[in-house]
Amino acid sequence: MFRVGVIGLGMGKSHAVGVQKVSKKYPEVLLYSLCDIDLTKLQKTGAELGVGNLYGDYRDMLKDPLLDAVIIASPDQDHRRMAEDALAARKHVLCEKPLALTREDIEAIVAAAETSDKVFMVGQICRFTPGFRQAKELIEQGTIGDLTYVESEYAHDYTKIYRAGTWRSDPLRNGVVGGGCHAVDLLRWIAGDPDEVMAYGTHKTFAEMTPYDDTHISILRFRGGVIGKVFCSISCRRDYTMRSVFYGTKGTIITDNTSPSMTLFTYGESPDHPDGVLTETEIPIDIDSHNAAGEFEAFYDAIRTGRPVDTPAKEGANTIAVCHAIIKSSLTGQPVRPEYF
Ligand SMILES: NC(=O)c1ccc[n+]([C@@H]2O[C@H](COP(=O)([O-])OP(=O)(O)OC[C@H]3O[C@@H](n4cnc5c(N)ncnc54)[C@H](O)[C@@H]3O)[C@@H](O)[C@H]2O)c1
Repeated sequence: MFRVGVIGLGMGKSHAVGVQKVSKKYPEVLLYSLCDIDLTKLQKTGAELGVGNLYGDYRDMLKDPLLDAVIIASPDQDHRRMAEDALAARKHVLCEKPLALTREDIEAIVAAAETSDKVFMVGQICRFTPGFRQAKELIEQGTIGDLTYVESEYAHDYTKIYRAGTWRSDPLRNGVVGGGCHAVDLLRWIAGDPDEVMAYGTHKTFAEMTPYDDTHISILRFRGGVIGKVFCSISCRRDYTMRSVFYGTKGTIITDNTSPSMTLFTYGESPDHPDGVLTETEIPIDIDSHNAAGEFEAFYDAIRTGRPVDTPAKEGANTIAVCHAIIKSSLTGQPVRPEYF
């Protein structure tokens, strides 16, 4: 058996459901234990998912020698101690993004992960979103030629999510690190590491609410001559989207994580025109903006096969290095080079 525990039952509940979906393909996988400090939520989720091993303290959960792996879906500020404790208890770890909020915590997690023989994966969920996966495949096949410009946005109205005095109101947990990290990670996955960013922030809609700017725009210069843009707003008055556009020398892809199709523009061959004919193709896509099962399956595959994960600790760390550069640039008015780990 491969026994999995989940810590934190907000987003963690969808991870737990994801584990149960994967256990249909791999019957040895078992959603085995759950942990939350909210004991009412813990009991309710345990009953709903049919899990009897319930813990109010994650350290008690980690003492179980039968437990093989944990999914950390607690507030960002807890990721470091939980990751360190879980690796020390010799459990494999799938940790939610953002890896951590400070360089010190990130360095500690990277060190713990790199000195452990257990698998450590950061959950960068956009790498499992069907539209983004298909876009990456098309780009790697050369369908749109060489990349020239990439953009992504994290537009998510936090009016109902944000609460003063909770972990989300920590200034270190600003919108760029907390949610914009999805768009940043997506662009890093598609276009590689930016070597410089320039950013601006504004704080009009949530002026009374958040202790940090609620909307940012950043332009990025990637290695290899690609340029890009990330828009991040946690105060936008619209429905949630991560609309993303990838421009290449021969075509363009427009996609997101909430629509049933993506758009591909390409120039086909034509004897009459030097550039060929512009063709627009609508490609159907599954909507799965939080493909927790796909993410968990990749984690389990790495454990099963010994292949490295796509997002080890350092990969999640470097996404946050770019987010930190965006914040620094917006506060100083200067271009900033990300300090990669
Ligand atoms: N991948 C994504 O798309 C995505 C989306 C939302 C949140 N997240 C990340 O997931 C994590 C959790 O976010 P959320 O939205 O579920 O937050 P949440 O506040 O809705 O839920 C957190 C849960 O953790 C519990 N908790 C708090 N401290 C705990 C502790 N010490 N031990 C055990 N349980 C504890 C809380 O009681 C709560 O049930 C964060 O790191 C967040 O950034 C990721």
